Amino acid sequence: MINETLGIIGGTGWLGGAIAKAVLAKALLPAGNLVISNRSGSHPLAQQGACLVTDNQDLVDRSDVIIIAVRPEHFTSLNINATGKTVISLMAGIKAQAIIAQTSAAAVVRAMPNAAVEIEQSFTPWYCAGEVEATTRSFVQRVFECVGTAAEVQEEDFIDYLSALSGTGPAFPALLMTALANQAMAAGIPGDIAQLAAKNVVVNSSQLLASRDAQQMIDALVAYRGVTAAALLAMSQGCFEEQIGRALQEGAAVARKGLQA
Ligand SMILES: NC(=O)c1ccc[n+]([C@@H]2O[C@H](COP(=O)([O-])OP(=O)(O)OC[C@H]3O[C@@H](n4cnc5c(N)ncnc54)[C@H](OP(=O)(O)O)[C@@H]3O)[C@@H](O)[C@H]2O)c1
Repeated sequence: MINETLGIIGGTGWLGGAIAKAVLAKALLPAGNLVISNRSGSHPLAQQGACLVTDNQDLVDRSDVIIIAVRPEHFTSLNINATGKTVISLMAGIKAQAIIAQTSAAAVVRAMPNAAVEIEQSFTPWYCAGEVEATTRSFVQRVFECVGTAAEVQEEDFIDYLSALSGTGPAFPALLMTALANQAMAAGIPGDIAQLAAKNVVVNSSQLLASRDAQQMIDALVAYRGVTAAALLAMSQGCFEEQIGRALQEGAAVARKGLQA
C-alpha cells in the first residue's frame, strides 16, 4: 500500500469517481489517504472512508499528488495553488503549460483515460511535462493500472491524438454497432434479431481479439474467399481505413486547438 495522499478534484464524476472507487477497491492506498472534491459536497464515496471536501485548495494542501478530473470548461474557474506538487490532468484539450501557469504545479502529467474506467478496462496513455521523480511516475502508472492498462508516452501531442483514439473509448464500436443494426433492419431483418446480431459482433465475437492478432484474424477469415472476404473487400473499397484516419485527425485537431472555455 502507498503512503502518499491522492486528491481528486471532481472525484465524484464519471472518470474521477471510477478512479477513486478503483484505487480504494484495489487498496492502492488507505481510504484516509484519498481526498475527493466536488461542488455539491455529497457522494456515496464519502461513506467508503474517502474524505469529501468542497474547498479545492484544502484538497490540494492535504494531497501529495492531485488529479484534476473536472470538465475542461470548468478549469479556468478552479482557483488552486499547487506549488511544489504534481498535478495529473485528465482534461482533454488543455496543454500542460496552461495547467502549470494556472496552478503553479512543479510538474504536470497529462493522462487520457476513457469511459471504460467504469469497468476497469480503460487504456490510459500519460505524458510528463517537467521533472517528475521515478517514484511519482511509478505512482501514476499504478493509479491508472487500477482502471485498466496504462503507458507513458514521450510527446504531449500524442495525448491530443490519442484523445481521439483511445480517449473516445466505446464511441467507435458504438457507431459500428448502430450502423450494423440499422443496415440489417433496412435489409428486412427484424429489429430484435438485428440488435442481437450487431451486439454479438461488436461486444462478444470481438473478445477473440483479446488473445489473437487482428491482422492474422482478418487474413484467416478472408482466406475462406467467401462471405467475410466479400464484405471486408467492400469496406476497403469504400475507403474504410482512410475514413478512420480522417476521423482521428478531426478529433485530434479539436484536442490540439483546446477545449478550454
Ligand atoms: N468521460 C470520458 O469518456 C472522458 C474521456 C477522456 C477524458 N475525459 C476528461 O475527463 C474529465 C472529466 O470528465 P467526466 O466525464 O468524468 O466529467 P463529469 O462526469 O461531468 O465529472 C466532472 C466532476 O467535476 C465536478 N466538478 C465540476 N466543477 C468542479 C469544481 N469547481 N470543483 C470540484 N469539482 C467540480 C462535478 O461535480 P459537481 O457538479 O458536484 O461539482 C463532477 O463530479 C474531463 O475534463 C474530460 O475532458 C473524459
